[in-house]
Amino acid sequence: MRMIGLRSVWALVGLVVAAAPARAQVGSVTYTEHVAPIFYESCTTCHRPGQVGPMSLLTYEDARPWARAIKQKVADRDMPPWDADPQVGTWANDRSLTDDEIATIVAWADAGAPRGDMAAMPPKPAYADSQWTIGEPDAVFSIPAFEVPADGMVEYTYFEVPTNLTEDKWVQAVQVMPDAMAAVHHIIVSARTELTPEEVEARRRVDPGIRLDREILPGDEIEWNPGVAQLEGRPKGDSLGGTTVGNDGVSIFQPGTARLLKAGTTLVFEMHYTPTGEPVVDESRIGLVFTDEPPDQVVWPGAIVHGQFVIPPGESNYKVEADLTFVKDVKLLNLLPHSHLRGVRWDYEAVYPDGRRETILSVPEYDFNWQIDYIFDEPLSLPKGSKIHAVSYYDNSAANRYNPDPTVEVRWGEQTDEEMMFTALSYLIDEEAEKPSTQQQ
Ligand code: HEC
Repeated sequence: MRMIGLRSVWALVGLVVAAAPARAQVGSVTYTEHVAPIFYESCTTCHRPGQVGPMSLLTYEDARPWARAIKQKVADRDMPPWDADPQVGTWANDRSLTDDEIATIVAWADAGAPRGDMAAMPPKPAYADSQWTIGEPDAVFSIPAFEVPADGMVEYTYFEVPTNLTEDKWVQAVQVMPDAMAAVHHIIVSARTELTPEEVEARRRVDPGIRLDREILPGDEIEWNPGVAQLEGRPKGDSLGGTTVGNDGVSIFQPGTARLLKAGTTLVFEMHYTPTGEPVVDESRIGLVFTDEPPDQVVWPGAIVHGQFVIPPGESNYKVEADLTFVKDVKLLNLLPHSHLRGVRWDYEAVYPDGRRETILSVPEYDFNWQIDYIFDEPLSLPKGSKIHAVSYYDNSAANRYNPDPTVEVRWGEQTDEEMMFTALSYLIDEEAEKPSTQQQ
């Protein structure tokens, strides 16, 4: 925020100076004509009844009392949540505001948040009633009703939900739908086919297009290993979809690409509940849209993981590095950095076979509350032998206001007072020109 904040403050100063002679202009910024279109575009996905935002911003009456807080949050670039350094990369799902939009909102708040002419009001955005933004799913799978207690800490809870699919399916779109929204911190749904122990062992070493340079050693306290995370000795499967506070849980694969869901797949829901002070019942779901058309390319899931760090007590800038090498020509689609309460920064470099290095994503102020999946505007081509070098930083000092305990050593663990160095990603393999077979072996 510091760096980005400074930049936007300078941008605002510039705008105000430029706009100074046209004072009347500033006074004429109104909610109906200038501000509502921005809110409808960038805020009301979360700020409407039933969604994660603490207040609705759908109407003037809703928004007016919040004008001062809104000005503050948008000028600081705290809202909408988006943590990537704007200097690095362009993103298909970038929801940050432009400098002009910020200046408009600030001018509106400074002018006393005038309403303006109702005739200028844009139509309210249409939100699907069912809340399935991927369209009506072809299949919906739900966990059994689970009672989230009023308080205390709930360990990660797993549910295994059989799909009973009798044939392979191509998945075009996925939506993970939290039910007791306020009590669901995150959901990761993995797809597990029944693998033989040999297949599990083989996949532990090599995913179709990637190699983990730092192998996870047997006996490590790590559950997450791409493709073969263990659940009571059984593999957890490949991550298929997920949602975290503030994400819409939607993955739509581009035309010509799809995820493969094998017949007989079991879905494993990893549920992270955060009690809200009242007991609630949760029946979260996943919806899948299938396509009959076999894709030109399969979307493969992958992960960059390092699990052997020990963050010393009080250490304010502890660095963990991990590399992932692609063993085929690929196109990288997205990166989802994941650390916990002590995580403060993430940087990713592509290291090409000729040694050239390029920063591809930088999250200078990682915020645990916003688990953001950064989707490349243009999938990133990485020739065979390219690496992704991921670096995460942790602040285990008392200066980190989110730090649950600056006096302890911190290792890999699933609870938020433990840490992770984990990045989920997905990619296409270039050579898959032939349509892959969906036959079961
Ligand atoms: C991805 C979901 C999401 C989007 C998009 C989003 N918000 Fe928020 N907003 C939240 C959540 C959740 C909170 C409460 C937690 C927090 O403050 O971080 C919040 C808090 C706020 C607050 C502080 C409220 C308070 O209690 O003080 C303001 C003001 C705000 N948002 C304005 C906006 C505006 C204006 C936009 C669009 C330009 C926007 N938000 C976009 C989810 C969102």
